[in-house]
Amino acid sequence: MREIARKLGVSTSTVSRAFSKPEMVRPELRERILKMARELDYKPNRIARAMVLGQSDLIGLVVPDITNPFFPTIVRGVEDEARKHGLNLIVCNSDGHVAKEKQYLHSLHDLTVAGIIVASASRRDAYVAELAADVPVVVMDRRLSGSLVSQVNADNYGGSKSVVDYLTGLGHRRLLYLLGPPMISTAGDRLRGFRDQCRLHGIEFDVVRAGFGIDDGYRAMKQAWPMIDGTTGVVCANDLCAFGALARLAELGIPVPERISVTGFDDIAFARIFSPSLTTVRQPAYEMGRLAVRAILDMRRGHASHQLVVLPTELVVRDSTALRNASVELSSGGAL
Ligand code: RIB
Repeated sequence: MREIARKLGVSTSTVSRAFSKPEMVRPELRERILKMARELDYKPNRIARAMVLGQSDLIGLVVPDITNPFFPTIVRGVEDEARKHGLNLIVCNSDGHVAKEKQYLHSLHDLTVAGIIVASASRRDAYVAELAADVPVVVMDRRLSGSLVSQVNADNYGGSKSVVDYLTGLGHRRLLYLLGPPMISTAGDRLRGFRDQCRLHGIEFDVVRAGFGIDDGYRAMKQAWPMIDGTTGVVCANDLCAFGALARLAELGIPVPERISVTGFDDIAFARIFSPSLTTVRQPAYEMGRLAVRAILDMRRGHASHQLVVLPTELVVRDSTALRNASVELSSGGAL
């Protein structure tokens, strides 16, 4: 950097700004600096600048399952908002493993990124809160037990209640719930909403542990056979779980929704093109990503130590649900 400054007769901070804050350097001077940098094969050291100037242009994002279409929508929202503010993005996939998540969080911290956004693999917030002492941190989608960091998530509890209200309105009186991973707050909040609303409406229900994946839904549907007597609706923890349950029901020739209604949660893109198209709860995933970046920018400007944002969810009715058809309720003889 010094060599460029010397050859062009400008200060090193002008050369640095040409890379970190291009809008603050006259275009023709910036062009001369970039040309000289290419001739000298100079590449700005992001980490050195971040450490010296405390002005990293990187945001780190850690998600638990990059193969689940719900998270790429979040990534898109984070990226679009970050780039609007001249920030770049590093995406890390924790596979839902706390140890892997911690490794990524510490690596991002060591890179002195401008901020970290994490959809956490656990409810514990100790290591995240520790990190937040050093760098702006936003916990997104999943809630953490403490309130020491900013959080941006959706109303999972309310969304789950809206599903039960809707199925009750269709005349369903006995439901099966396929539960997500219990250590994840979104799964727990949805189960709570489901249970509270069933009790309010006097709906009988069973709960089977499934997970957030297609195979989880398939296996849980298969396991649910002893509980299925009189059940006319299956409420699933998320869309991929619902696709697995639908696959098992299709394998058994059980028509959906004629004999059993099925619902999901997330409203990923495949939900509307699946056959039958999936009744589900839309999460504002893209907006969550954008608001998480804005929360980081607020913290960097000293506007907010930490904030809690809960975005509304929305029931989306499609072809996988219908009026309860009492004449063809599943009996315990119906092998699932
Ligand atoms: O589909 C993956 C699930 O994990 C989503 O429902 C999202 O809320 C996250 O918690």
